[in-house]
Amino acid sequence: MAEPRAATIDGKLAEEFAVPSHAEEAREEMAAFAGRHGAMGRRVVLITSGGTKVPLESRTVRFLDNFSSGRRGASSAEYFIESGYAVIFLHRHRSLYPYTRTYSHVNLLDTLQLQGEGGSSSSGQVVVNQQALPNIAKVLKRYQEVKEAGLLLPIEFSTLSEYLHLLKAAAQALSAIGSKAMFYLAAAVSDFYIPAPEMPEHKIQSSNGPLQISMKMVPKILSPLVKDWAPQAFVISFKLETDHSILLDKARRALDTYRHQAVVANVLDTRRGYVVVVTPETQAELILTDEDVKNEVEIEEKIVSNLTAAHGQFITQQLG
Ligand code: PMT
Repeated sequence: MAEPRAATIDGKLAEEFAVPSHAEEAREEMAAFAGRHGAMGRRVVLITSGGTKVPLESRTVRFLDNFSSGRRGASSAEYFIESGYAVIFLHRHRSLYPYTRTYSHVNLLDTLQLQGEGGSSSSGQVVVNQQALPNIAKVLKRYQEVKEAGLLLPIEFSTLSEYLHLLKAAAQALSAIGSKAMFYLAAAVSDFYIPAPEMPEHKIQSSNGPLQISMKMVPKILSPLVKDWAPQAFVISFKLETDHSILLDKARRALDTYRHQAVVANVLDTRRGYVVVVTPETQAELILTDEDVKNEVEIEEKIVSNLTAAHGQFITQQLG
């Protein structure tokens, strides 16, 4: 007889992916956060963001990584907060972060100046050169308000193992608020890994010659997430391709397989200006026009607006 699905994936997670030391603490923090905001009638979105790191050795010197900057997740977090959501931001360590994201390319020391004693004293006051940080007063004000209101809970991962265990912990934490929870899975998650028991302990030696590695398929976590861990939640996955001609077909197949609410389909090169939100019944193309670009509108504003409206309808249907 086939093993139950959740038991299979839970078993695999426990045996082949090291549990991060902060998993339990993070689960408690997320549960308290969801409970607090849920009790106030607020919707909560769990955003995953950034790429996962896949180690090749257990005392890791080398790892596989991917292109994701975390920009999609970080900017979406800001738009969700503006739409009245509380946000759990499950993100890759040092990937782009809400509010600071626009300054990620800035060298901190180029934004500061020494004042007093002709600017030469090392004991003088340090002041900010606002020209080096466009809109800083506005961004700082909003960041502080959001922090004060406790609307953003950041949780970090680096490796694939950490991501998987923390996503499971998040799903368990959010299951208590039912359909008020949204999962917005924008992280670029590795499809391949080396199970912990099969990983070499020490640095792989180049003196052994060319390297051949065999990697296993990562279990599709969307399946237990939708069916077992958070069955009442509104779940959005993302689909990334480099070939536009297969994109929509892949998005539809994901919806058929996992039976969740929507897929945001995007192509690597055009992802900043074009996505398609695919649901079992609809297909919406979201495009940044030249006018949008001139007005610094971001595609994430359109994605979030589309999905928050759909989430509202979903909640109403669940209640009715
Ligand atoms: O970070 P940026 O540079 O701004 O780029 C944003 C983005 C391109 C990374 C984002 O828009 C995006 O498309 N993210 C998903 C990319 C991806 O990994 O797609 P996928 O087809 O491999 O995975 C499908 C979905 O299943 C994703 O929602 C993924 O989070 C989820 N998944 C994947 C593997 C796995 N084992 N478990 C999962 O839950």
